[in-house]
Amino acid sequence: MRNSLIKIGFNFWISGPAFVSSHTFLKTKKLETEEKQYRLVAKTFQGLEDVLAEELAHIGATGVEKQNRAVLFNGDKAMMYRANYQLRTAISILKPIASFTANDEDALYKEISRINWANYMTTEETFSVAAVTFSKVFNHSKFVSLKVKDAIVDQFRRRKGKRPDVDTQDPDLKIHIHITETHCDLLLDSSGDPLFKRGYRVKTTKAPINEVLAAGMIKLSGWNMDCDFYDPMCGSGTILIEAAMTAHGIAPGTYREKFGFESWKDFDSDLFGEISEESFGTPDFKHKILGSDISPLAIKIAEENIAKAFLTKKISVAPKNFFDLKPKTENGFMITNPPYGERLQPDDLKIFYQKIGDKLKIDFTGFTSWIIGSNADVMKFLGLKPEKKIKLFNGPLECTFRKYSVYEGSLKDAES
Ligand SMILES: C[S@@+](CC[C@H](N)C(=O)[O-])C[C@H]1O[C@@H](n2cnc3c(N)ncnc32)[C@H](O)[C@@H]1O
Repeated sequence: MRNSLIKIGFNFWISGPAFVSSHTFLKTKKLETEEKQYRLVAKTFQGLEDVLAEELAHIGATGVEKQNRAVLFNGDKAMMYRANYQLRTAISILKPIASFTANDEDALYKEISRINWANYMTTEETFSVAAVTFSKVFNHSKFVSLKVKDAIVDQFRRRKGKRPDVDTQDPDLKIHIHITETHCDLLLDSSGDPLFKRGYRVKTTKAPINEVLAAGMIKLSGWNMDCDFYDPMCGSGTILIEAAMTAHGIAPGTYREKFGFESWKDFDSDLFGEISEESFGTPDFKHKILGSDISPLAIKIAEENIAKAFLTKKISVAPKNFFDLKPKTENGFMITNPPYGERLQPDDLKIFYQKIGDKLKIDFTGFTSWIIGSNADVMKFLGLKPEKKIKLFNGPLECTFRKYSVYEGSLKDAES
């Protein structure tokens, strides 16, 4: 598989001690270390690179450089732990372990064999290899991952008489190889399970939004937390939970059971303990976070997820048809993800979006409303002119995230 994921043909190694810039921390311990610095890679969804770069700068990362679906930054072990724990819009954090040139598969095998894999895993542990290639020589990523896997298991067999197993579902060590022509970068996934697996979502309704995407939408919307927040089609509650975690300064890693780096040989549990107590500013949020959904089952699921995130006192949800909803305040902020049309006929969908637009014009004047949808033609039936449109992806589905500020007379400006 060829794919345009990340192009990283650069020097990973940065010498010198790592000094974490402390001015951004409101409460942190001194975490200056003599650890080696690396050029770390934070992977994300297309469209979230800018907000991820901002997040990285906020936690004190240096050398922040945006790429396609990834942001590069400099950091030591502490910064790698912090990035995993604090970044709401990263999917995974990769740490480079080797860079080399390979002109053919034998050279690739040899270079992989030169690495002492016993430094990274034991024969009792499992691993996986993911390859991304942009190369005329290495044009089959599956073949590249097989070659890397062979070199690793052959080394263990030679040196230890037995080999670690491959586990593609839940490996102890996730290895990535990125090849640009003949330049190869080998990286370890320090996150393990992707970072959108926050640990709070016990159940989902149909078509839940990805947690990283929801957090990214909240950041892109520019919500400054000075009013109530609404999601009137909240499904399993993801947008509400991400909004509440942001508003109350709860780190996204708080409820995760495990990060990949915790099973690494060099895991420093004291350092990670300190990192997980850092705070990057807790906003003094005094407003309400309110959700509703037409489906009582969705509300039950949302309640369970909200409870798992210890946010029952911070988020109120109720079963309610959006078209019967009357906001209690004159202004507010809404981010919502209405049905895309999987269960509605095209004509019904148009009428449904028309009704959403009418509802916004009648009962939500004074509100800033952001709506994500995958069907641009149908979104026109809202009958409102979007102030902003941002292209995003919900899984493989291309979507637009649109801002509508409804004032008296918005009808005149309706999108044609
Ligand atoms: C795409 S899902 C939202 C998923 C949600 N963001 C999550 O992460 O789980 C759309 C939701 O809109 C709800 N819905 C559909 N029509 C509605 C209406 N008239 N009023 C309120 N909710 C409605 C559905 O029950 C469904 O849960």
